[in-house]
Amino acid sequence: MEQTLSIIKPDAVAKGVIGKILDRFESNGLRIAAMKKVQLSRQDAEAFYAVHKARPFFNDLVDFMVSGPVVISVLEGENAVLKNRDLMGATNPKEAAAGTIRADFAENIDANAVHGSDSLENAAIEIAFFFSGREIS
Ligand code: RTP
Ligand code: MG
Repeated sequence: MEQTLSIIKPDAVAKGVIGKILDRFESNGLRIAAMKKVQLSRQDAEAFYAVHKARPFFNDLVDFMVSGPVVISVLEGENAVLKNRDLMGATNPKEAAAGTIRADFAENIDANAVHGSDSLENAAIEIAFFFSGREIS
């Protein structure tokens, strides 16, 4: 069993597709072990995406992530990290495979509907960033 961190980004929350996206997870063997709706502060978003700090898109990414509330969850299941990435589709929705969350719900590479941890190691770091042990069950 693995755990991974998912964020439904501000564009998808604003569109009213939280339930449709959560259904993709639950219908594909990913259990929701923790969940909350949060307005990220700039400090939260900068710290969360610190790995991209030197990239040209960093400021746009932070602006976008604080532009409205997000839904953060811990997903649990077999191969949860890769399974979630497969369900999400490619970073750029124009390149995302048909039937993936980004193909169906994302606008463009900035407003791309969801975040998912990219490795088991980063999943543990990202889960600990947002959740205490007692919030996960
Ligand atoms: P995420 O971390 O949000 O799940 O996305 P990802 O792994 O698919 O992509 P990543 O490389 O980690 O990039 C993080 C977010 O930065 C924005 N981005 N813009 N303009 C660009 O070339 C570019 N590249 C990345 C995207 O919004 C991406 O989700
Ligand atoms: Mg990433």
